[in-house]
Amino acid sequence: MSPSVVEILTRTEAWLRRRGITAPRREAELLLCHVLSVARLQLYLLHDRPMTAHELEMLRPLVARRGEREPLSWILGSRGFHAIELEIEPGVLDPRPDTEALVDAALAQIPADAQTPVYVADIGSGSGAVGLAIAAARPAVHLYAVDIDPVALKVTRHNTERLGLSDRVAVLSGDLLSAVPDARPIDWVVSNPPYIPSAEIDGLMPEVSRHEPRRALDGGPDGLRIIRRLVPQAAARARAGILLEVGHDQAARVADILRRAGLTGTETFADLGGVQRVVLGRSGPGMGVPGAC
Ligand SMILES: C[S@@+](CC[C@H](N)C(=O)[O-])C[C@H]1O[C@@H](n2cnc3c(N)ncnc32)[C@H](O)[C@@H]1O
Repeated sequence: MSPSVVEILTRTEAWLRRRGITAPRREAELLLCHVLSVARLQLYLLHDRPMTAHELEMLRPLVARRGEREPLSWILGSRGFHAIELEIEPGVLDPRPDTEALVDAALAQIPADAQTPVYVADIGSGSGAVGLAIAAARPAVHLYAVDIDPVALKVTRHNTERLGLSDRVAVLSGDLLSAVPDARPIDWVVSNPPYIPSAEIDGLMPEVSRHEPRRALDGGPDGLRIIRRLVPQAAARARAGILLEVGHDQAARVADILRRAGLTGTETFADLGGVQRVVLGRSGPGMGVPGAC
């Protein structure tokens, strides 16, 4: 007789635990929900129902992928981020809950009832997470979503369309701010750039070290290589300022880089764990105005 949903749930949980997954019950439930096309609450109503051979066949490769420590959202194909749902696929950074602090810090700078356009450049858009969450929450925002990676650009474009934001979002391919044509105005530059020191990547959890794209992670010897290039570009173009996500011990050094580039009023904001992970700098008078720098 076919095993029941609850039997498969228990076996999957035990297997994922042996493979080092930290929340094996939750993940086993999410994988089963995906295969059975039900919400998590409904799963409990199906506990005694036998699994069909087809459902078991669908589940097996997904559980095997997770056992190889592929990010769960790559396997499920989506993840909730801030107030939006994003489609995610292999090759693009799985957006982190901590990155919602960058979105919140940006939203605090942009009035919800702004009547005139606010131009935001999201540098290193990945799945589109940061920029699209800002654009979805602020109707005045016009977004330039920039990435250098073809998979990231494809996923950002796809998520832009799915969220119905195409009329306010330009997805641009290129290196940092050079992707945004000089004639285009920019108020805020926001970015969750690659900031992990190169030598630390191999020691991170397997989801990151074995699977996520190096280009999304690697910030060079001290983690600040991209930030040092991006900040002067942003200081020259942004009329309002710049907001960056940084590593757990980088906030003071990055605030210093911002000040040296002429940005003022630097502030830092904490992530969900209380660590200062977002750095803001404001443009001074005349900054970001074509011809002023
Ligand atoms: C840490 S990921 C952030 C992705 C997304 N914003 C998020 O928070 O989930 C950094 C992103 O920057 C992109 N990137 C790396 N170097 C870049 C460059 N020189 N110009 C533009 N994008 C770059 C990577 O492809 C990657 O998508």
